[in-house]
This record gives sequence, C-alpha cells and structure tokens, in this order.
Amino acid sequence: MEPTRERAWETLTRHTQSEALRRHALAVEASVAWYARHFGEDEERWRVVELLHDFDYEIHPTLDKHPQDGAPILREEGYPEDVVASVLSHAEHLELPRDTLLKRTLFACDELSGFVHAVGLVRPTGLEGLEPKSVKKKLKQPSFAAGVHRDEVYAGAEGLGLELDEHIRNVVAALQPIAAELGLRTAETAATE
Ligand SMILES: [Fe+2]
Ligand SMILES: [Fe+2]
Repeated sequence: MEPTRERAWETLTRHTQSEALRRHALAVEASVAWYARHFGEDEERWRVVELLHDFDYEIHPTLDKHPQDGAPILREEGYPEDVVASVLSHAEHLELPRDTLLKRTLFACDELSGFVHAVGLVRPTGLEGLEPKSVKKKLKQPSFAAGVHRDEVYAGAEGLGLELDEHIRNVVAALQPIAAELGLRTAETAATE
C-alpha cells in the first residue's frame, strides 16, 4: 500500500480518541514537515511517520508496550518496514540507532513540539512573538510541563547539529500556521475575547 498522510491520519484516529494525543501528533507532524521542506526530503513520508509515532499510545500507555507492540499492528495494516523502523526509533528505551535524518528529526521534534505547544497554551497571544529565550527559561523550570524530558530536548537539537535557539525558532514557526488546530490563541481569537 501507498502510505499517504491521509491513510496515516485514519490509522491514528482509529486508535486514538484523546484530543491531546491527536494534537501532539499534529504538532510533531507540523515540525517535522517544516524540516522535510527545509532539508528537501520526502515531506509526505515524513508526515506519515510522525502521525504514527505515538498512534498506539492510547492502547499501550506504558513503555513495556509502547511503541514496540504497535509495530505488528502497523505491519498488519500494510505500512512498509522503513516507516515501522522510523516509528520505533523515537523510543529511548529501545536504544535503536537514529541512522537517518528522518529518525533524528523525529527525535528532535517529539519533546520540543510538545513543550512549545505547552508554552503557547499559557501565553495570552499563543505562539506570536514567542522567543527562544522564553522557551529556554521555561525549560529550566522543572515543574513546567514536567512530563517533557529536558535531556531529550537538548540531545535532539544536538543530533541535528543545531543550536537550541535555532531549533526552537524553527519549531515555533512550524506550529504557528496550525495554532488554531492546537487550541492556541492567535491575534484573531485574542481580539474577540
Ligand atoms: Fe512515544
Ligand atoms: Fe510523541
């Protein structure tokens, strides 16, 4: 089968009812798609992997099952092995090599997209005018978005050979166009409040 973005979204939403998890998938998808364009890579393939990376989290919410028990489901649904391997590579506990640019980009965008999303939710203007230094300040507050692994944020940027500031700026730019879908305030919604 041809793994299209549409097909991946269908797989994700069939297994995932939680709005927060669907939004996480959309946020990581947008960030990785930004990088796919930036690197001149196969944007649709990259979107497919991102939409699927946590597709089984709702049915397998613990690390003894996620994402490894999701892999047979993806194979059964006909996803090619490179998609399955990229999905599996995001999990630190599986210790798989991140030997492609896609794998390194997914890893770099997973935690940071969630974190930038969380920062946007507590700001009256969402992501507008959000500077790397504000994001970095929040990263140093352990109680803020405590579920985000800071070490993975730093290691992710390093894996792409990027300064953290630049990576944050790219992720903010990637999320801005889908701010409304992520439940973030924008200049338009702020004006009507
Ligand atoms: Fe995951
Ligand atoms: Fe994730």
